[in-house]
Amino acid sequence: MLSSKIKLLASVAGLLAHHVGAHGGCVNYTVGDTWYPGYSPYDDPIPQDSAPWMPQRKWITNSPIFETNNISLSCNAPGTPARAYIPVRAGENITAVYMYWVHTVGPMIAWMAHCAHDDCTTFDSSTADWFKIGQRGLEEGTIEMGMWFQKSFSRWDGSPSLWGERVPKGLKKGKYLVRHEIISLHSANAPQFYPECAHLDVQGDGEGVPGSEFLVRIPGVWRMDQPEININIYAPGISNSTVYNIPGPPIWTG
Ligand SMILES: *[C@@H]1O[C@H](CO)[C@@H](O)[C@H](O)[C@H]1NC(C)=O
Ligand SMILES: *[C@@H]1O[C@H](CO)[C@@H](O)[C@H](O)[C@H]1NC(C)=O
Ligand SMILES: *[C@@H]1O[C@H](CO)[C@@H](O)[C@H](O)[C@H]1NC(C)=O
Ligand SMILES: *[C@@H]1O[C@H](CO)[C@@H](O)[C@H](O)[C@H]1NC(C)=O
Repeated sequence: MLSSKIKLLASVAGLLAHHVGAHGGCVNYTVGDTWYPGYSPYDDPIPQDSAPWMPQRKWITNSPIFETNNISLSCNAPGTPARAYIPVRAGENITAVYMYWVHTVGPMIAWMAHCAHDDCTTFDSSTADWFKIGQRGLEEGTIEMGMWFQKSFSRWDGSPSLWGERVPKGLKKGKYLVRHEIISLHSANAPQFYPECAHLDVQGDGEGVPGSEFLVRIPGVWRMDQPEININIYAPGISNSTVYNIPGPPIWTG
């Protein structure tokens, strides 16, 4: 009896340690009812590194990136290109699936970028021209204590946490990167960046491409002289503010 209780406590403690130490990331994707498994940094890399079905770029740690100029900010580390593409029609939603997301404060931004030569399998993400397709921020309340999408989308029981954004309806067909980025701001003046990238094969009849005012380089878009990035959410006048403007270019809705 006692030993089974100890075992139970140990497994609960282990689970909690896993949650807290784990940070997290986008582990799978869905389009409609179809699920696309992504790269798992928790599992054996060898079969994943050669899996022909893999649509997500390789990431090996669920720890954040701390530097706004880190080359891995575009598609995480090492960010090695994947082999497959997730098929999606322009105007459909791509949904990122997270597990055990534990942070609560900061914006979430979904980006896309066309792959040079219409081939993402050889494309260097640090040369990409990224545009925003959707973003989520403070939904209600104050910066420190309020309800951010980062908090409301997370399912704390370990079931999948879902974040869907629409692929712009008018977007020209082709091969694109999609990049899901969570920026966590709970540490004063020490933003944490959690990006993951996947390859999309966009179908459709559109001819739309975003203009230069929508396009940025990553790294490049975030800097420590941006007050929304280098922020102390506990500081007087900030903690009680009900306004947080998500930085970066406007969203391109196509
Ligand atoms: C960039 O971030 C990765 C992943 O967190 C880390 O391993 C690497 O040391 C960072 N590079 C620099 C130059 O800070
Ligand atoms: C992600 O997909 C893998 C492989 O299909 C599955 O084992 C895992 O439970 C999924 N995770 C979530 C959070 O959906
Ligand atoms: C698609 O995503 C948009 C933006 O996130 C959302 O408003 C809409 O409800 C989603 N549609 C479906 C069918 O999930
Ligand atoms: C926030 O607190 C500061 C003082 O710390 C005060 O001057 C300001 O009026 C407050 N703002 C709101 C929106 O309550």
